[in-house]
Amino acid sequence: TLPVILDVDTGVDDALALLFAVKHPAIDVRAVTCVAGNASLAQVVDNTLRILDAAGAGSIPVAAGAVRPLLAPGRVASHVHGADGLGGLTLPQTTREPEPVSAVELMRRTLMDSDEPVTLVALAPQTNLALLLRTHPDVVDRIERIVFMGGSASVGNATAVAEFNVWHDPEAAAIVLGSGIPTFMYGLDVFNQVTVAQDTAAALASSGSNLGQVVGALLGNRVALSEDSSLVYTGLIGDAGAICALVDPEALSIERRPVRVELAGYGRGQTVVDRRRYSGEDAIHGGVGDWAVLDVALDVDAARFARLFLETLGLGA
Ligand code: BDR
Ligand code: CA
Repeated sequence: TLPVILDVDTGVDDALALLFAVKHPAIDVRAVTCVAGNASLAQVVDNTLRILDAAGAGSIPVAAGAVRPLLAPGRVASHVHGADGLGGLTLPQTTREPEPVSAVELMRRTLMDSDEPVTLVALAPQTNLALLLRTHPDVVDRIERIVFMGGSASVGNATAVAEFNVWHDPEAAAIVLGSGIPTFMYGLDVFNQVTVAQDTAAALASSGSNLGQVVGALLGNRVALSEDSSLVYTGLIGDAGAICALVDPEALSIERRPVRVELAGYGRGQTVVDRRRYSGEDAIHGGVGDWAVLDVALDVDAARFARLFLETLGLGA
């Protein structure tokens, strides 16, 4: 099995990712760390504990991390995830507390205690990861790979060009992408494609299975993304797609490409993905700037990921 640490800002689709990850037999979730993003840190921690309880995974250690980005102000996404971060889903109170150590310390311990390198999966702004790399640079050898949901080679969502997780803490993303650790980007190009049909979500929500009801309710979350602000069903499995990528990368078109994080101006938070197959004026005239070379997912067999997601949760469509 693949040992992983999940860094989350739960979050409707982080919740779907957590449920999928703990149920997939090839994935071994060693720790879950929380960061402010979709909701406040306290809300993210509470949501994460409740979701793990609902999945029968209440023994996985959870720790709280950064309360806000490195430089940017804290800004939640309640227009997408609701005031509680879970789209109004009511789950039983948790009876447990997060670990008495920070997210950075839980990540460090988990990495150092593992007898094999661990994959770091970031489904949220990368504040915790940046702090880990700056605090304990010696852990780099213990990281197999970083897999992150974030960025885009095309359209943005937080701004016309920037994806939310990178936009929320661009400096953190620049630190992480610049670390030299092998990194895989699961950006909006693929994130926006993987959906579950509305009638399937509705059937799950009213099914006899507890897990089905939770997944159906999460998928049924409606967001104000249309031009007139009316609420729309998206059916996106979202961050859960980045977990699908861990176990079924063959469903993706992946290219190794130079990527940079813009830090200034309107483009702040944009990931520029260089898809040219020749050297342009920038390289010819020097001053190409800071580019990381990443594996970037550019296309996906969306139906295959949606099937994998539902079947792993025992909810085959
Ligand atoms: C990302 O931002 C959040 O809204 C989601 O949880 C996902 O991680 C998409 O841009
Ligand atoms: Ca997220």
